[in-house]
Amino acid sequence: MKIAVAGVGYVGLSIAVLLAQHNEVKAVDIIQEKVDLINNKKSPIQDEYIEKYLKEKKLNLIATLDAKEAYRDADFVVIAAPTNYDSNKNFFDTSAVEAVIKQVMEINPNAIMVIKSTVPVGYTTAIREKTGSRNIIFSPEFLRESMALYDNG
Ligand SMILES: NC(=O)c1ccc[n+]([C@@H]2O[C@H](COP(=O)([O-])OP(=O)(O)OC[C@H]3O[C@@H](n4cnc5c(N)ncnc54)[C@H](O)[C@@H]3O)[C@@H](O)[C@H]2O)c1
Repeated sequence: MKIAVAGVGYVGLSIAVLLAQHNEVKAVDIIQEKVDLINNKKSPIQDEYIEKYLKEKKLNLIATLDAKEAYRDADFVVIAAPTNYDSNKNFFDTSAVEAVIKQVMEINPNAIMVIKSTVPVGYTTAIREKTGSRNIIFSPEFLRESMALYDNG
């Protein structure tokens, strides 16, 4: 399948690397340096298995800043953008997740969007209503940083 991953942090990169063993994966980020490292088979984060897989495995993985190119023909878009929690305001900043959803709906509204980012209870129902898209689902993520690929494997 053709899969795009939005955000190559701990969550997105571990999923992108695992899926790229058997799928065509395009990983999108907004930071050029991360994209360049991945395309040079180096990990932007410290994770033994991600480093090993990038170096040793045959992966169908391209990192890019070009969201249009990545989302255009994707069957699935895995959303792993940050949702930083503000403990003073008791608030998750979901703006990056919403930015990705908006782009996907403009570029490829038939793609299934799988939210792996941490979002508040009820968020998925609310965003489906707000956007009118029935293609948004949530799948919780439980990995440990530095063991991200191992935990997802
Ligand atoms: N790290 C964990 O252990 C963990 C575990 C469970 C859930 N989560 C959740 O998963 C989400 C991602 O966490 P992480 O640790 O991978 O974060 P991270 O900050 O390491 O990575 C997020 C990446 O998304 C990129 N990004 C930001 N806006 C973007 C956009 N519009 N399009 C594409 N990429 C964009 C950033 O540049 C960054 O590289 C968060 O919601 C977090 O709460 C994290």
